[in-house]
Amino acid sequence: MKTLVIVAHPNLKHSVINKMWVDRLYEEKDITVHELYKAYPDGKIDVAVEQQQLLNHDRIVFQFPFYWYSSPSLLKEWQDVVLTYGWAYGSEGTKLRGKEFMLAISTGGPEAAYQAGGYNHYSMSELTKPFQATANLTGMRFLPTFTAQGVRFLSNERVRESAENLVERLKASY
Ligand SMILES: Cc1cc2nc3c(=O)[nH]c(=O)nc-3n(C[C@H](O)[C@H](O)[C@H](O)COP(=O)(O)O)c2cc1C
Repeated sequence: MKTLVIVAHPNLKHSVINKMWVDRLYEEKDITVHELYKAYPDGKIDVAVEQQQLLNHDRIVFQFPFYWYSSPSLLKEWQDVVLTYGWAYGSEGTKLRGKEFMLAISTGGPEAAYQAGGYNHYSMSELTKPFQATANLTGMRFLPTFTAQGVRFLSNERVRESAENLVERLKASY
């Protein structure tokens, strides 16, 4: 099982949790870490390189901090240009079919805020529907989302623990 983690954090230097996750993931030999903002500081994504990376892996993971209830913008751009008709979807677009797809998301808001009646009203499962629909359209199996929530209030120990939990989840069979 080869896993590709596509990391979309615009400022990893000032990140706490995504940086910790990335540093930990680099230690895993069956996990490829791909830092989008580092690879494309000018925002111009090399579609052929990205598609080849996807072909080389069985499990695709999007890792990002939740920005406005979605991903940072470069990951949206990545989806727009890499997941093309006739490649990722459409009657002949079968390249991702059978792969697994997972989200690893950090949120500023605590878990309790993400429910009906809570501060943000909607659950993470509801708010990530576009990603679930994308997995569906491209024939990828959507795995349960990994989250770390209320990240400002997490102790260093809990942050480190979340990195270990993420690795465990990324290596698990579903
Ligand atoms: C532009 C922007 C938008 C954000 N939007 C949300 C949001 O919609 N929901 C939320 O819970 N946190 C939001 N946050 C907080 C980030 O998710 C949080 O700071 C991040 O997950 C922390 O991870 P890091 O330490 O790796 O940067 C936002 C932060 C920024 C800068």
